[in-house]
Amino acid sequence: MKKFNFFMLASLLMAFVAVSGNAFAENKVSAQKDLNYHRAKWDPIHFKPAIDSATNEQCLACHKEIIEKKPLDASPAGVKKSDVLAWYQTLSTYEGEQDTFHRRHLVGNYSTKLMNLKCNTCHQGNDPREETAGSSADGPISEVQRKMVNPNTCLMCHGQFPWKHMAGLTGPWSESGKIFGNNCVACHVAFRTNRHKVNFLNAAAIEKEGATNGDVCFGCHGGRSWYRISYPYPRHAWPGMATNIPDWAKDRPTTSQARFLTGVKDIATSKTNTK
Ligand code: HEC
Ligand code: HEC
Ligand code: HEC
Ligand code: HEC
Ligand code: HEC
Repeated sequence: MKKFNFFMLASLLMAFVAVSGNAFAENKVSAQKDLNYHRAKWDPIHFKPAIDSATNEQCLACHKEIIEKKPLDASPAGVKKSDVLAWYQTLSTYEGEQDTFHRRHLVGNYSTKLMNLKCNTCHQGNDPREETAGSSADGPISEVQRKMVNPNTCLMCHGQFPWKHMAGLTGPWSESGKIFGNNCVACHVAFRTNRHKVNFLNAAAIEKEGATNGDVCFGCHGGRSWYRISYPYPRHAWPGMATNIPDWAKDRPTTSQARFLTGVKDIATSKTNTK
């Protein structure tokens, strides 16, 4: 690819030289600029396998606008941003002023305390040919039509509260939570204790914050649900776990997705579910 571009540039420049020798310098600059944009757009970092090891700094070298840009204080028509809050932006867990999607997940105080999201936690490739699933030989087939990010990634933290899988709960958290003092850890000190050992979560910080405030746990397990379904969480073995597997859990993986384990020090070994 690089070689191909180089030869294209070379022959383009030679053509310019041949046609108008004196305009060489000027044309070289614009040709170079043009080529740089396309080179950047087709940079191998947007594709597998390079994207898997890309750091935020590498992506931000070209895309710093996604961190720097903030919502306008007022729309061009004069509507203030404080007057157009969405319902969830009025809740106590929503800190500070309205902010952009990327800033909320990557630089917000609350997010950086609990999470360690990377560009490639969500972005698994960005082929400019490919905003339609499976339409080229090397295109991702897991992506949903015209989406740059697989929505299953969002579902992990924005699904419904799966109370039907929780023995002891008789209804949604808004009803059953009161009995437990809005405290998830009341039960989760004993159930599914082997959790959050993935590279995009700060497991220890989550336990610390969640111990006294159930809204922290609920926030990622139903409180910010943009979906009508819940995520099929992997079911890691935990100390004291019963040997029989409930029906709903029979098809569950027993480890987190492999790409979320790179760089995680404390990966508990867990055995595979036997059906
Ligand atoms: C060398 C510069 C460069 C680097 C490094 C780079 N990009 Fe890009 N990226 C571009 C350019 C240029 C485009 C095309 C933008 C356009 O056409 O509006 C683009 C497009 C994109 C798009 C699609 C934007 C759209 O509006 O369609 C996404 C998403 C994206 N890049 C994510 C990333 C991620 C994630 C990384 C790091 C893994 C990354 N980029 C690294 C230059 C870069
Ligand atoms: C929480 C998941 C998530 C993370 C983390 C994330 N992005 Fe995105 N990004 C998205 C989504 C979703 C879109 C919109 C995709 C679409 O329109 O299909 C998007 C869009 C973009 C675009 C297109 C322009 C725009 O603003 O819509 C660029 C460029 C981009 N992301 C770069 C980055 C870079 C660089 C990082 C890391 C510093 C990053 N993203 C981290 C989910 C994420
Ligand atoms: C690892 C967990 C996690 C993942 C994955 C995740 N989010 Fe979030 N999201 C959060 C948390 C936590 C907040 C609350 C941040 C805050 O209030 O400061 C949030 C906030 C939001 C908001 C509100 C932003 C605002 O400022 O109004 C939207 C919208 C959102 N997420 C959409 C998405 C989408 C779409 C994806 C997938 C591309 C995604 N999230 C992936 C945890 C996650
Ligand atoms: C009455 C006890 C109890 C309370 C309170 C409770 N849970 Fe659970 N939870 C369970 C049990 C039991 C399971 C299933 C254990 C198993 O896998 O066999 C479970 C499973 C889960 C799962 C995995 C579900 C799946 O489909 O794999 C999540 C996530 C979870 N709980 C989060 C929470 C959060 C967040 C709260 C607080 C908002 C909470 N739980 C409150 C008992 C409880
Ligand atoms: C920032 C978002 C976030 C917060 C806050 C959070 N979780 Fe989770 N939780 C997740 C994600 C993402 C997973 C799936 C991780 C994976 O793939 O292994 C998960 C998995 C789980 C599981 C399944 C464990 C397993 O692997 O068997 C349980 C149970 C659970 N969480 C309970 C809780 C409890 C209790 C709290 C509060 C102390 C809490 N969560 C706070 C995002 C969050």
